[in-house]
Amino acid sequence: MTGTNDNPRPDGRDTDPATAARQWWRTGIIDIQPGSIRIKGAPIETLIGTIGFPEMIWRMLRDDRPTPAQLRLFEAALVSSVDHGPQAPSIAIARMAVTCGVSLNGAMASGVNVLDDIHGGAGEQCLALYRDAVERLLGGADVHQAASEALRSFRNQHGAIVPGFGHRFHPVDPRAVRLSALAAKAAAQHWIDGRFLEVATTMQSLLVTRDGRTIPMNIDGATALIYGELGFPDALARGLFVLSRSVGILAHAWEQKQQGGRIKGPLPPILGYTYTGPGSDPAA
Ligand SMILES: CC(C)(COP(=O)(O)OP(=O)(O)OC[C@H]1O[C@@H](n2cnc3c(N)ncnc32)[C@H](O)[C@@H]1OP(=O)(O)O)[C@@H](O)C(=O)NCCC(=O)NCCS
Repeated sequence: MTGTNDNPRPDGRDTDPATAARQWWRTGIIDIQPGSIRIKGAPIETLIGTIGFPEMIWRMLRDDRPTPAQLRLFEAALVSSVDHGPQAPSIAIARMAVTCGVSLNGAMASGVNVLDDIHGGAGEQCLALYRDAVERLLGGADVHQAASEALRSFRNQHGAIVPGFGHRFHPVDPRAVRLSALAAKAAAQHWIDGRFLEVATTMQSLLVTRDGRTIPMNIDGATALIYGELGFPDALARGLFVLSRSVGILAHAWEQKQQGGRIKGPLPPILGYTYTGPGSDPAA
């Protein structure tokens, strides 16, 4: 679109109202005109029925075009994080919200809202950690040195717990095993460069408990290495996790809606909880 002002101000403070209005929202994603919708230059009707949803997500987020192999790996990461059962807080919250009469959109928003630093943010944190190690690798360190220095630097800043490793429920996270195998195959075929995979597996070998047990990579550690290999920035590891988990949140909210149930708390009331206020039993 062309304006009447030769020097428009992108902050919307242009003195010409028409130019200010046009400059208010700026996007390289979509161009809509009456009867025409173009996504990154492609008419929507040429995409509908032609590309899959993962490719649409990629197209919306990035300007480069994925190869079919890259798309399959991307899709594998998206598939892997959709659900982790009704005890995952994001899923439980969505189900509880439905029993409180909240509609599907509200239930989904309630579930997504808790996907922050602690539940849902590990992928982003882990990708930043891998990236630090990859940069050390590119700077000339060997992989062992790069991984241990990045881990040391992370722990000095954030404490002992390393995001992307360990799991409360799974001794070994089957999703991480499968995703790592897919990434290893891609590295062997040379269509990812394998540096994120290399630092991730080296970190895994370095992380052991006090009694000598390995702390295996979890889903966030595995998706982070794939998003890193595919060239996604750290923050999008979180965004993509939220996108993927939203599928599970929707499915559980919908299932709960069909099951009915009113005002369900997180546990059956018979299980109770611990009162610690005045008059409580200190031994309880
Ligand atoms: C998920 C998590 C809370 C499980 O912790 P947990 O219930 O204490 O797990 P375990 O009982 O198997 O831990 C055994 C030992 O390994 C340590 N450990 C577990 N995960 C660790 C990690 N990511 N980094 C460093 N040490 C870890 C524990 O502190 C414990 O150490 P200790 O024996 O010296 O006390 C923990 O692994 C974690 O916070 N991971 C990072 C965050 C993350 O990736 N979250 C996404 C999970 S899908």
